[in-house]
Amino acid sequence: MASLPPDRSVNLNWWRDAVFYQVYIRSFADADGDGVGDLRGLRQHLPYLRDLGIDALWITPFYPSPMVDHGYDVADPRGVDPLFGDLPEFDLLLTEAHAVGLRVTIDLVPNHVSALHPWFQLALAEDPGGPARRRFHFRPGRGEDGGRPPNNWQSTFGGPAWTRLPDGQWYLHLFAPEQPDLNWHHPDVAEDLARTMRFWLDRGVDGFRIDVAHGLAKDPELPDMPDPAAGWRLDNPDPDSPKPPRDPRFDDDGVHALHRGIRQTLDEYPGSMAVGEIWVDDDERFARYLRPDELHLGFNFKLLEADWDAAPLRAAIERSIISVESTGAPPCWVLSNHDRPRHVSRYGDGGKGQRRARAAALLMLALPGVAFHYYGEELGMPSVRLPDDALQDPVWQRSGQSERGRDSERVPMPWSGQSSPYAFSSGSTTWLPMPAGWAPITVDAQERDPASLLKLYRAALRLRRDHRGSPAGRVTWLDSPPGMLAFRCAGMTCAVNLGAAAAKLPKGSVLLSSVELAAGLLPVDAAAWLTEHSPPPAVTPG
Ligand code: NOJ
Repeated sequence: MASLPPDRSVNLNWWRDAVFYQVYIRSFADADGDGVGDLRGLRQHLPYLRDLGIDALWITPFYPSPMVDHGYDVADPRGVDPLFGDLPEFDLLLTEAHAVGLRVTIDLVPNHVSALHPWFQLALAEDPGGPARRRFHFRPGRGEDGGRPPNNWQSTFGGPAWTRLPDGQWYLHLFAPEQPDLNWHHPDVAEDLARTMRFWLDRGVDGFRIDVAHGLAKDPELPDMPDPAAGWRLDNPDPDSPKPPRDPRFDDDGVHALHRGIRQTLDEYPGSMAVGEIWVDDDERFARYLRPDELHLGFNFKLLEADWDAAPLRAAIERSIISVESTGAPPCWVLSNHDRPRHVSRYGDGGKGQRRARAAALLMLALPGVAFHYYGEELGMPSVRLPDDALQDPVWQRSGQSERGRDSERVPMPWSGQSSPYAFSSGSTTWLPMPAGWAPITVDAQERDPASLLKLYRAALRLRRDHRGSPAGRVTWLDSPPGMLAFRCAGMTCAVNLGAAAAKLPKGSVLLSSVELAAGLLPVDAAAWLTEHSPPPAVTPG
């Protein structure tokens, strides 16, 4: 059953400059024709991922779940939901991924469980004050009849973070009511997580992405939020607005002891790693998660939040680097994921969005450290405006249908063909509808087009591998015309033109460009990689 990657013991730090491919499992490839992606579908496409040139997979939750939050409501963290396959299928996937040189990381969801998890079912069956309830946050309500929630916390999906049971008690859920928060002050919780980690590590997984890594710990007093109206979502505040008061729902000081415990378990498996989802805007507080005995990596979402403009992009890059500088951890870049609009759409959609996404690919892959790539990013998949009746994200209902939620960026991957389901599935319907007009962006169509984004990604990933041989790490900004970003890193120069007119390329010979170049100029919304220009050696007179 256990499947070790070829050189887990040789290259313990494989993750430090890896490119991870995020497989949103529901949407990558459906092998059994039910319209939902699965593990076998992923296994069948491993050669595609190997040829793309990525280093590792991050597979989103595939555990038994009622799927209220599409798998982030876990009923059994040590199993596989039949919708996605079974354990033997997972083991096969692991073995085959390792055989083609890909590492495999999976999600851990330690902040909450599904309401159908046996622990919560036990808690529900119990009277108020019973021991099974202590694994969660149960409280009496406020007001004379206890009819008001115990505090003013908001769920990040909208509405109060508390639900009342018929017996009068309330329980906490920072997400949907079907995702009760675990009480990390209870010893069973950490013990069970360690058991889950060992279960998957023993099978051979290479690491974990930790969901809501800045959650978990809560002040037992559960103090009110200073401004509940301002902060119900997971967001970094606008950098120009005054610093908001601390949000007691997240980033409690107690969380670090929990991460140290998680790290101890990982350290039993040399070469394994964890990356945390950390929505913490303050750089110093962010860095605390990356101390040598805590997480290996932390997603920094600043690039994903920055507009397509030279100043905010440069600020996002600089701050992401500064925030990890004191820790020894490499920065960790993300342009898109399953929770945010895809960057093609953020950058303006249509031809403009596509062109900018090509440039953004070269920008992100030239930066030092780790890159996370969301499935379909290599095809330029945009977010899709779905009809109201197709929306499934709990955010849609919880927000009183004022927020459309995250389904738009989770539409299945188009592999080939002229119409839906574009070979995503052998069935005819897909869990989210796939739009008409995607024939030109399918994998198959882009394989046949030498100028496609898919081909650009492959070339970029190949070059990135070749260049990472140099002592990597630092970004040196080059003087450049207004609107142009140019920097050197790992023996290469990257230039991106975010200005209003074509601009002169920096020195060096062009290795790769997002569009065709002419006359030493970089067009608007384009990027290029160049060999680092070294001045000719000084000639000593005489
Ligand atoms: C963050 C995940 O990325 C998101 O998709 C999920 O809904 C929440 N955590 C709750 O688990």
